[in-house]
Amino acid sequence: MKRSVFLAIALMIALVISSFATVTIVMTAGAVGAELQVLQTQIKEFMQQNPDIKVVLMPMPNSTTDRYNLDVTYLSAQMPEPDILFLDTIDPPAFADFLVNLKPYFTDQELSQFFQGAINNDTYNGRLVAIPWFVDAGILYYRSDLLQKYGFQPPTTWDQLIQEAQYISQREHIQGFVWQGAAYEGLTCDFMEYVHSYGGNILDENGKVVSDSPQVKAALQTMYDMIYKYKISPVGVTTYQEEDARHIFQNGDAVFMRNWPYCWPLLQATDSAVRGKVGVEVLPEGTGFPGVHHSATLGGWELAINKYSEHIPEAVKLIKFLTSPQQEAYKAINAGQAPSVLSVYNDPAVIKAVPLFKSLYDVFVNAEPRPKSPIYAQISQVIYDNVNAALTNQETVDQAVAKMTSQLKQLLGQ
Ligand code: GLC
Repeated sequence: MKRSVFLAIALMIALVISSFATVTIVMTAGAVGAELQVLQTQIKEFMQQNPDIKVVLMPMPNSTTDRYNLDVTYLSAQMPEPDILFLDTIDPPAFADFLVNLKPYFTDQELSQFFQGAINNDTYNGRLVAIPWFVDAGILYYRSDLLQKYGFQPPTTWDQLIQEAQYISQREHIQGFVWQGAAYEGLTCDFMEYVHSYGGNILDENGKVVSDSPQVKAALQTMYDMIYKYKISPVGVTTYQEEDARHIFQNGDAVFMRNWPYCWPLLQATDSAVRGKVGVEVLPEGTGFPGVHHSATLGGWELAINKYSEHIPEAVKLIKFLTSPQQEAYKAINAGQAPSVLSVYNDPAVIKAVPLFKSLYDVFVNAEPRPKSPIYAQISQVIYDNVNAALTNQETVDQAVAKMTSQLKQLLGQ
């Protein structure tokens, strides 16, 4: 074969191969409730539309605290993978320096589609380091059939919840109230709802530690009393995360549950013991202090790109796909995760599948954020470790609040 013919054939083969070459992007993923299954379906569709991009999902533990610790390991290694990280709403400040500024990749028009509070949350030192993927707010699930059977209304105060839970649980021989009491981020979320609902706070708007207050003590005392005085929550609640509470409630073994919206489609699934027997409401408020109010902790998850990624344009493409109104609607309906794109709340199919996105829309809009700080993980650990110590009788309520206060002051140099 002549040399020129050989070269021409080699060139053709190289061209054919490169046209089939795929870029692989690695994305971290969670598996709470139906989220992994839903994401897998979405990724399949994305890959069909983009045959030149292969997406590999990297499952992460359920606990956001464990996920955070893994992300610290991944990002500090300064490796190109994972390319896309899904981050909790509290994470952007801590990881900002390791993430791509996404501002140049999105038009103002594209960004205006999202909840602006969520965009602000993901902006740190003027850089947009993540894109809101879904928002979360703590809500109260209740057994509508049982409340009706005993002639109760959904509770509006913690005292009322305790009374109803005691009354019904004793007669039905089930738990009264399940929630997240393990020593991890979820407990901080639950605790903050009580603190705010009693009109208290842990840090004020200037970041000053204000946790040593009667309101904060009342909040922790209420949680403690639910376990030991009123016995509406099992002692085991001090080890529960979201999924533990959901499984109990979904089996028909509890009257009330505090959780996030992702539970809704699962509770309504054909294999659920409580299908058609569940109502949702804003969480109860405290009593006895000025400023008591109904409070929900603001949660949610974001999509961010590792700044060492070698496939930034492809990763941006995937983020745009996953946050498109169509995909957010699919995710809302099937995983119960509240859209970060405002227009999706007007989609009748979404509201039909998860009515709480309409009935509790105000709860999402008014949900209370956790402090925005690069050392938020340490702040929260002081909170949940001391709260859990009180709930497991290692510290009294007063000791736990005093210790939390002094440790926070030390951490924040106050
Ligand atoms: C949910 C929330 C998240 C929160 C976590 C706590 O995943 O979306 O913001 O930190 O629960 O367990």
